[in-house]
Amino acid sequence: MKPGTDVEVREVGMRDGLQGIATFFPTDLKQQWVRHEAATGVPEIEVCSFVPPRVSGQFVDCEEVIDTALAIPDLVVSALVPNLKGAERGFATGVHKMNFVVSVSESHNQANVRCSREESLERFRQIAELRDSTPENRKVQLGCGLSTALGCTIEGNIDPADALWLAQELVRLGADEIAVADTVGYANPAQVRAMFRLMRENLGDEVVLGAHFHDTRGLGLANVAAALEEGVRHFDASLAGLGGCPFAPGATGNIVMDDLVFMLEAMGLKTGVDVEALLAVREIVQQGLPDERLHGAIAQAGLPKGFAGASVTVQAAE
Ligand code: COA
Ligand code: ZN
Repeated sequence: MKPGTDVEVREVGMRDGLQGIATFFPTDLKQQWVRHEAATGVPEIEVCSFVPPRVSGQFVDCEEVIDTALAIPDLVVSALVPNLKGAERGFATGVHKMNFVVSVSESHNQANVRCSREESLERFRQIAELRDSTPENRKVQLGCGLSTALGCTIEGNIDPADALWLAQELVRLGADEIAVADTVGYANPAQVRAMFRLMRENLGDEVVLGAHFHDTRGLGLANVAAALEEGVRHFDASLAGLGGCPFAPGATGNIVMDDLVFMLEAMGLKTGVDVEALLAVREIVQQGLPDERLHGAIAQAGLPKGFAGASVTVQAAE
């Protein structure tokens, strides 16, 4: 976590948002997006996914975008990797962090990465082994997203014990962070609290716990508030709420980054992000995706009169 901040927000729209969109987001606009959003204070950006081009054509320019991102001082640059081959490609680029993904739902894992959960654990073991094999690779953080941890469009309800089992295995194999993901937007705040309590009580304090929510059924920010109550301080979000999952039919976007920053700052929690500057970056997203409908309540309604975020208040007092 950046010094002086209370909560870490991570932009995932360049990966989760773009992966399912057929229109190619031009490379120069991706580079502008990452530069401008980092300048607003967002500390971590997941810039791409190391999947085969046939899975998503959106990331054929991974290396160029990563080079731009790595040149930005203090920005943590991350990427998604679905398997060892993706991780090999990732280590070669020098990204700071790689996010592996495994679904708690066996059927969703089969649909998403074409293997069983046990096979995914074996893949993660190989990735961790590769990470630990050289001093250069050892600098790379390994996160793991637990997809469908709070519900699945194929299997319906998910047993929290399965989510815990996978999380414990991943931590044992070397994961630095576990991100509980509501991939299909089924979760409610009571369920979120129970899940994070279970994780915190069983995973130990050294594991970073993150939350990845989708706003499919309108409960995204309510779920953030619930996770905050359980001590979660790391949240994924997408500028303008881009996002979805190719294997989660009807899933709308991730929670809206701009609205998330507004909520946290209004609650007195410092994100280090300038929300007005962030709102301006939406213009770049719209340029790259002229036909896409952007989401966001603050973009539509404006900031409340007299609003001064926690980060701004601190900066002004210094
Ligand atoms: N990057 C580039 N090429 C890759 C690759 C990667 N990460 N992983 C596999 N390949 C190549 C293999 O080298 C092989 O190439 P070849 O036919 O020339 O020999 C080919 O793809 C098939 O490899 P295989 O291991 O059989 O992959 P698969 O077809 O079973 O697909 C995944 C497995 C994991 C790569 C694919 O299902 C995937 O990318 N899933 C992620 C989906 C996603 O992004 N979901 C949203 C995020 S949660
Ligand atoms: Zn997602």
